Formats: sequence, C-alpha cells, structure tokens
Amino acid sequence: MKFELTPLKYGADDLAPMLSAETLEFHHGKHHLAYVNNLNNLLPGSPFEDASLETMIRKAEGGIFNNAAQVWNHTFYFATFSPSGKRVPSGTVAKAIDAEYGSFDAFKEAFTKAASTLFGSGWAWLCMKPDGRLTITQEQNAGNPLRAGLVPVMTCDVWEHAYYIDYRNKRPDYIKNFWELLDWKVIGERYDEALKK
Ligand SMILES: [Fe+2]
Repeated sequence: MKFELTPLKYGADDLAPMLSAETLEFHHGKHHLAYVNNLNNLLPGSPFEDASLETMIRKAEGGIFNNAAQVWNHTFYFATFSPSGKRVPSGTVAKAIDAEYGSFDAFKEAFTKAASTLFGSGWAWLCMKPDGRLTITQEQNAGNPLRAGLVPVMTCDVWEHAYYIDYRNKRPDYIKNFWELLDWKVIGERYDEALKK
C-alpha cells in the first residue's frame, strides 16, 4: 500500500495570523510529507505492507510505528482546523464535555494544562473511553491513544515544529490561539461517530 499526503482543506494563508503560511508550508508540506515518504520507504517487505495506519499504530514498533502514527496524527490534527468553523462545541460532545469537566471553559483549562505541561515533543488528546466518557491524555513523540483502546476526538500537536516559526519558544501562546482555529462541527461528528461503534 502506498500512502499519500492528505491535502489541507484550506489555503496556506487561511489560518493566519494564528498559524502562518510559512508554518503550514513547513509543518504540512515538509514534516507531514516526510512521515508519509518515510513510511512508504519502510513498508515494502515488512509485515505491515498491506496494513492500515490504524493497525500499524496498534501493533507496529520502531520506525513503522513512529511514521504511521505521525501520518495519522497530522492528518487528524490538520482536519480539525477551519478559518470559519464553529468555535464552541454543541450537541452530544458539548454535553459530554459538561458532564466530565463542568463547563467548556473548565475543559479548555484542563486540556491547555495537558498540552502545556507535556515534556518535550508529543501530543495532547481528547479521547472517548469505551464507556463513551471523555478523557484528556498526553502522548510523547508519535504516541496515539488508539494503542490504549481509546478513540481520539481532538488533538494538539506540541512538537516545536508546530509552532516555532510563529511563536518561537512560547508554546502557551500557540495553545491559546489553537482554540481560535478549531472547528467543533468536525470534532462533534467524530464523537458522534465514535459513539456508534
Ligand atoms: Fe507536527
């Protein structure tokens, strides 16, 4: 199987000034692409030659795991953004957030803390547990909560390559602006889809 870079649903300038065209050109056009190319180079002759990304995330180790997870994680991350999305949750995901965290603001605070305090490179995640309830997790490096039996609903990439061009060392400023780019229609649909499984 040959994997391809999923195109962005928006233009390179459309998320500015929160994420600049230069950030997207590097993050999507170089880093994300490199994970796709690395994975395609690693797969021939491996036990995962015809496997899905999800299978590789659950079962693979080393380079195949790292690159498969980074391909999946970045596609998931970039698909959450919209220049004119719904900036607050509604429907079932909003009810689940209120049930777990008390309010959207309290949830934002908890997720921001997880993203801010993750040491080194990695990802903060909002996930659905098998009982349908939400949980926030931190994953180092290429980590993905599918491996722990959780269903990802939203993520924030806190690798330096996600923000260094625009924010330098100020990860908290990047995370603050991250909320201005989310499309809760996409996140709500993911949660509804996860509940059906
Ligand atoms: Fe990234």
